[in-house]
Amino acid sequence: MNVLAELRSRFSLVLADLIDDPAPLAAMILPSQDPKFGDYQANCAMPLGKQLGQPPREIAQSIVNQVNVSDLCHDLQIAGPGFINLRLRDEWLVNQLNTLKTDERLGIQESNQPLTYVIDYSSPNVAKPMHVGHIRSTVIGDALCRTLKFLGHRVISDNHLGDWGTQFGMIIYGYKHFRDDAAYDRLPIEELSRLYKLVRRLIDFFEAQDRLPELRQSIGRQRASIEEKQPSGDAKVDKKLKKALRGLREKLADLESQEKNLCGLVDQCEADTAFCETARQHADIGTAVQLETAKLHAGDAENIRLWEQFLPHCRTDIQRIYDRLDIGFDVEYGESFYHDRLADVVDSLEKNGLARESDGAICVFLDGFEAPMIVRKRDGAFLYATTDLATIAYRSETWNPAAMLYVVDHRQSEHFDKLFAVARGWGYRNIEFQHISFGTVLGEDNKPYKTRSGDTVGLEGLLDEAERKAFEVVRDNELAIDLDEKRRRHVAQVIGVAALKYADLSHNRTSDYVFSYDKMLSLRGNTATYCQYAYARIQSIFARGNVDIETLRNDPIPIMIDRPAERFLALQLLRFAEGLSAVVDDYRPNQLTNYLFELANRFSTFFEDCPVLKADTQPQQQSRLLLCDITARTLKQGLSLLGIQVVDRM
Ligand code: ARG
Repeated sequence: MNVLAELRSRFSLVLADLIDDPAPLAAMILPSQDPKFGDYQANCAMPLGKQLGQPPREIAQSIVNQVNVSDLCHDLQIAGPGFINLRLRDEWLVNQLNTLKTDERLGIQESNQPLTYVIDYSSPNVAKPMHVGHIRSTVIGDALCRTLKFLGHRVISDNHLGDWGTQFGMIIYGYKHFRDDAAYDRLPIEELSRLYKLVRRLIDFFEAQDRLPELRQSIGRQRASIEEKQPSGDAKVDKKLKKALRGLREKLADLESQEKNLCGLVDQCEADTAFCETARQHADIGTAVQLETAKLHAGDAENIRLWEQFLPHCRTDIQRIYDRLDIGFDVEYGESFYHDRLADVVDSLEKNGLARESDGAICVFLDGFEAPMIVRKRDGAFLYATTDLATIAYRSETWNPAAMLYVVDHRQSEHFDKLFAVARGWGYRNIEFQHISFGTVLGEDNKPYKTRSGDTVGLEGLLDEAERKAFEVVRDNELAIDLDEKRRRHVAQVIGVAALKYADLSHNRTSDYVFSYDKMLSLRGNTATYCQYAYARIQSIFARGNVDIETLRNDPIPIMIDRPAERFLALQLLRFAEGLSAVVDDYRPNQLTNYLFELANRFSTFFEDCPVLKADTQPQQQSRLLLCDITARTLKQGLSLLGIQVVDRM
C-alpha cells in the first residue's frame, strides 16, 4: 500500500468541499523531515487560509474534525500556524508489516490501469566505440523500464541505434582508402574503429582550419566591443554597463577557449608528418564522405554491401557492453529500419499542410521556434528528424502506446520540442511525449569527462577500471575475507558495475555530476556499495545464526516494534511504494536511490541499537530477524529495479 497516496486521497475528500481543485493541496501532505512532527505532515491549511481568507488554524481544525484517518493514524495534532501532524498507529504499522512477511511483491500492487510505454534509450551511433556519454541514457532508460514493468505496465524498450548516419559514410570512405586487410581480418571492429577515428580526425582538422579565421575575427570584434564600452559616470547607466560587460567577457572567454582547442588540434595534426601527407591527399574528404553517405542512402550496391558487412561487427561490439551491463532491449530497429518510410512521411506532412518548400528544402514551420524543422534537404536527403517522425508513426501503429519516452541528453532538447510539436500537429495528440533529458558526466576538473590526452572516455575502459577498483574493496572487506579468488572476481564484477550505475542514477538526472571511482565505491554514503553491504550484512546474520528464514516467514509469530529504531525502520519499509511512484511521477530514478539509501541508513541504526541474534527473548529475536529479512528483500528488489544485483558476501 502507498501510505502517502492513501492519506492524500482521504484528505482530498475533505478538501474537495472547500475548494475546486484539491490536488495541489493534497500534494502538500508529505513525509515529515523530523519524527518530532509525526510521520507525515499536512501543510495545506496555510495556503488554504490565504485563499479563503480565514485563519489557517481554524481551517486546520475543521480539516482535522472531518478527515477520516482514524484507522491509520493517532489523533491528529495541529502545530504552529496550522501544520497538521500525522502519526501512524503502531498496531496499523505492525499489521501492514506482517502482511509483508510472505509478500513477494513487498506490498507493491500492480497498476489497475496498466499503460503501454515505448522507451527509447541508449541509442548510440554504432560504428564508433561507446563512451562515457552513453552511460546515462543506458542506465536511466533501463531503470525506468524495470520500474514501470514492475508496477504492472506494458513496456517496449527500443534501442534506436544510429546505424544509418554519416558515421557509415566515414567508415565506408575509410575502408575504401585506408584499410589494412590483415588487421580487418584479424579484428574487424578494431580496424573499423581505427578507420573511423582517422577519417574523423581528418574532417576535424579541415573543419578547424576553415573555422579558425572566422573565429579569430569574432574574437577581434568581441574585444573591440568590450573596449568601446566606457563608463559614463552615471551610476545607473554604469551598473547596466557592468552587467553587459560581464556577458561580453563571458562570451569572449568562450570564443577564446574554442580557438585554443582548435589551435591545439591543428598544431597536433601538423606535428604529425604522416598525417599531414594523408591530409594533403584527401583534401576533399568532407564532401567525399557526404557523397558516400548519400550513395548508401540511394541504394548504391557496393556501399550497401559494405554497410551490411560492417553492421554485424558494430552490433557485436556494443552487445558486449550491454552484456556486461546486464541491459537488454525488446527491439533494436535502428534508424536504417525506417529508411523506406521517409519519403511517405514527407508526403504526408505536405498533404496535411504542415510542411512546405522553402529554398528547395521541405520544412515544417512551427510557432514559437526560430528555425523550422527541415524534413528533406535541398539535395533530397532526409534528416534525423524525418526518421524520428517515421519512428513515431511506426510505434504508434505497432503498439498504440500511451507514452513515448526518449532518454536523450539535454543538448537535443530543441530537437525533441520540435519533434513533439510536429507529431501532435500530425495527429498524435493522445500520446504523452517526454524527453527524459539529462546532464553531462564531468571529470574532477568540472569539465566534460575526458582522458588526460583529451579523448572521450570509452565505456569499456570505464567498466574495467570500476571492476578493478571494486576488487580492492572486496579484498579489504571483512565479510569477504575467506572468499576464493574466483568468487572475489565475480563479486568485484557485480559491485563495480553496480557502483557505476548507481552513481549515475543517484544524481538528479537533469544535473551534471562529477565522476569519481572513489566516491562511487565508498562503503559510506549514498552508493550502491553501501546498500549492497547492508544486504550482505543481513545475509551474514542469517548465516551466523543458522537461520532458516523460509520457515520463519511462514511462522505465525508477529513482528513487534518496541524500540524507536525498529519503528523508524518499519516505517521506511512501508514506504517502498512511495519511492517507486516518485520514480515514475517524473521519471527520476534518483527517487529510488534516495529511498534505498534512507532504508540502508535506518537499517544501520537499527542494527546498532537492537541486537538481533542476541535479542532478549526468542519472539523478539524472531521479530528482528523478520525485519532484517524484509529489509534485505526490499533492498534487493529496489536495486534490481535499478538494474543492480546483490551478493551474499562482499
Ligand atoms: N543516436 C542519437 C545520438 O547518438 C540518439 C538517438 C535518440 N533517439 C531518438 N529517437 N532520436 O545522438
